[in-house]
Amino acid sequence: MHITKDVIYAGVSDKDKDLFEGQYKVPNGVSYNSYVILDEKTAVIDTTDGAFCDEWLSNVERALAGRDADYLVVQHMEPDHSSNIIGFARRYPEALIVASEKAFSMMKNFYGSSFEERRVVVKEGDTLALGRHTLSFISAPMVHWPEVIMSYDACDKILFTADGFGRFGSTSEEDEWKNEARRYYIGIVGKYGPQVSSVLKKAAALDIKTICPLHGPVLTKNLEYYIDLYTKWSSYTPEEDGVVVAYASIYGNTRAAAEILAQKIGEHTNVKLFDLSRCDIHEAIACAFAYPKLVLASSTYNGEVFPSMRAYISGLVERGYRARTVAFIENGSWAPMATKQMRALLEGCKDLTFTEAGVKILSSVSDKNRDEIEALAQELCSK
Ligand code: FEO
Repeated sequence: MHITKDVIYAGVSDKDKDLFEGQYKVPNGVSYNSYVILDEKTAVIDTTDGAFCDEWLSNVERALAGRDADYLVVQHMEPDHSSNIIGFARRYPEALIVASEKAFSMMKNFYGSSFEERRVVVKEGDTLALGRHTLSFISAPMVHWPEVIMSYDACDKILFTADGFGRFGSTSEEDEWKNEARRYYIGIVGKYGPQVSSVLKKAAALDIKTICPLHGPVLTKNLEYYIDLYTKWSSYTPEEDGVVVAYASIYGNTRAAAEILAQKIGEHTNVKLFDLSRCDIHEAIACAFAYPKLVLASSTYNGEVFPSMRAYISGLVERGYRARTVAFIENGSWAPMATKQMRALLEGCKDLTFTEAGVKILSSVSDKNRDEIEALAQELCSK
């Protein structure tokens, strides 16, 4: 697939993957993107997951159309992109390997070689001249590892963004982007919002017509839409008004309260309801970053919060959850403790506001609880 006359897609689709990074469900698979630039010199940008070495090398060979590879640019060392560096180096023994200093250290640790004899170490602002195309490198630490560089080709106005702007699922630009890109971003890079913001500021100075990420579609249209979402996500700004109601229920009574509340909220604004014991927890985590308000509803269990709620809050905290309004629904047949526990688990989060209204259930939803739910719905929908 030609992206421009000189830039060719050489990546692969992994349709059989069950869990990306061993935890994220990918029902529509995931792609490992790689690109070939043909010029006076040729450059290959990134490799792929190790399971696809032969397929990827064959794609590269086809893209090179009989020419040799002069450079392999390694933007990111996570194994979903770096696993075939050795395979490439063997296939193209004359090619130089281009990467950051940190990436070469990681190469040694991962693959036993830092390519002392054939390496080009680059840093922020360095360039690699290929002919008409010159790659300028942008340091992008923690987007998503410390060694990451992005590459800008001013000739075709392409920004190669490593994991940035990646998405689970297919490489089709026509497929819905936002939800799977958000689940990818929040799950994998969400903790590093300030670092992403910093790279976005650098990118704002560039004339970009195409974004080439290492996962998902090459982005060619309406780039402001994607950049706006990334600006929001990296600054922990909600995308739009709405409430996530996430519940952990044992016998259905906490669920009943959550459902009543969600129904009431849904009469006024967006609402998403998640059963934390059954849903894709990473979708529930990502969704909490999309909306400004979150309701946590949990049974008390062994004097603690219910396990699936603990995992959920831990997932939020780990990814820098902040600047949101949070409400609690707790249930406990003899000693409700869940609200206290949930609030304590959120202690490290910045700029949280807690609602005045809350719900305390003693086994099943009472008339008093219905009034509490009504008051909570009103408070959540009135601000
Ligand atoms: Fe797609 Fe951080 O690797």
